[in-house]
Amino acid sequence: MSGMEQRSTLSESPIPVISPPIELTAKEFAFVATLAREEFGLELGTGKEQLVNSRLGNLMRQRGFKSFGDYYRHLQSDRTGDALVELIDVLTTNHTSFFREQAHFDFLTQRIFPEQILAEQKGHAPLRIWSAASSTGEEPYTIALTAREYLGPQSPSLPSILATDISTRVLETARKGMYKADRFQGGIPPWLKKHLLRGEGRWDGWYRMRPEILGMVDFRRLNLIEPLPDVGRFTVIFCRNVMIYFSRATQEHVVNNLAACLEPGGYLFVGHSESLTGIEHPLQQVQPAIYRKRGAKK
Ligand SMILES: C[S@@+](CC[C@H](N)C(=O)[O-])C[C@H]1O[C@@H](n2cnc3c(N)ncnc32)[C@H](O)[C@@H]1O
Repeated sequence: MSGMEQRSTLSESPIPVISPPIELTAKEFAFVATLAREEFGLELGTGKEQLVNSRLGNLMRQRGFKSFGDYYRHLQSDRTGDALVELIDVLTTNHTSFFREQAHFDFLTQRIFPEQILAEQKGHAPLRIWSAASSTGEEPYTIALTAREYLGPQSPSLPSILATDISTRVLETARKGMYKADRFQGGIPPWLKKHLLRGEGRWDGWYRMRPEILGMVDFRRLNLIEPLPDVGRFTVIFCRNVMIYFSRATQEHVVNNLAACLEPGGYLFVGHSESLTGIEHPLQQVQPAIYRKRGAKK
């Protein structure tokens, strides 16, 4: 093929359309920030403009909205709640990983599981654990993997795990329980491999939780700032790396709601960069990022 022919072929190929980035006005940003605070508890303070422009810009392009005005009308007229779900899906940060903040999983094996075994011998209720901002599932599956490995597959003390998140997108991923090998930072040790199914063919490089691990976790959508549905009582609640996005007042509201769902003597785990200092709550700190409700297990 001559150089001339090449040029003519190129000139006929479609020119990719690159849409200019969307830039919200100060008023539009304030509207999104107010909505995020009131509906989801998220604080989008100054400094978050670029993140909101980029994520909302992508959403608006994908959904074919020409201007923020069009998108705003869509948000206002939607009665299904889907538009708000779509908005929270793009505004939240879902970063998570297996065995994140290992100290909490050590606390499960060193303190909570042994306590539970003793409690069950005295006829106490089975162990229930709640992962209250579970993102794509790595946190609740780490709880299930740790429990099954530590307690053994037949143990009556194996916990049932409730995993909730506000984002439908992350819950969809979580329910599948399928992860690329690189999601397991530091590799997959032999003990962990026996709880996973290895993908083949086009799933080469992927791992899936075995059915018995999948079956330990019940995923549901739940907004932590809304009045909680009746989820029952828990021995342990993980609420990690979500409260950093909330105002102090919202944090206090959420922590008190969660404390009410703990059984006496139950534990609340928060992220290691989160602190309950300055918040009124009924829990006692037992070690960094671990709080306990007063009273003895019933
Ligand atoms: C950074 S991830 C933390 C995941 C996991 N807990 C961890 O520590 O690895 C924060 C999660 O909180 C969820 N989230 C944000 N606002 C929420 C709300 N109001 N109610 C419930 N979940 C919320 C987000 O969708 C996101 O998946």
